[in-house]
Amino acid sequence: MELAKIFENNRQWVQDKLNLDPNYFKNLSEGQNPDILYIGCADSRVTAEELMGVAPGEAFIHRNIANMVPNTDLSSMSVIDYAVTYLKVNHVVVCGHYYCGGVKAAMDSKDLGILNPWLRNIRDVYRIHKNELRNIDDENERYKRLVELNVQEQCVNVIKTAEVQKAYRERGIQVHGWVFDIHSGKLIDLNIDFPDILKNIMEIYHLE
Ligand code: CO
Repeated sequence: MELAKIFENNRQWVQDKLNLDPNYFKNLSEGQNPDILYIGCADSRVTAEELMGVAPGEAFIHRNIANMVPNTDLSSMSVIDYAVTYLKVNHVVVCGHYYCGGVKAAMDSKDLGILNPWLRNIRDVYRIHKNELRNIDDENERYKRLVELNVQEQCVNVIKTAEVQKAYRERGIQVHGWVFDIHSGKLIDLNIDFPDILKNIMEIYHLE
């Protein structure tokens, strides 16, 4: 890809926006008030804003390999804290995707160096759900199910945070698990039962 083309695209984009609204960037520079925190995969095919059809300012975005929310990851924990406590988003979305290379890598037993500790979090999801996954004979179906279960477990990790628990008590914040199907382009809501998960994990993770 020609990098000069990117700057040319940018000039065109600025012009298009200004043609519609001469104050577009002036207004953007005044602050942000997004309603959604979106945590997705860094995969180049899973473009957060484009697949959701949201404009700049509408969603706070965090992306990493395999849309993970590890409890000790300072980056994702800071993003959640900032979005929930300061930007006061009302929805936290964890969005995975089928054909996720990170999830695939975690299903193989290869030593991948610095990626090992990151992928270990996905292997942990496999271990937690191994009885269900073991019963899926078709490898592709097992791979897809692990993508879904990983989203579910990352939602659980979101719910474990004190900020999200507080925001739930104060304003009923919602946590959603979605999967993007690259093959069809469709976004699928896993309909994760947030209050039920919350109730289940509260015995152990409840924070006042
Ligand atoms: Co991915």
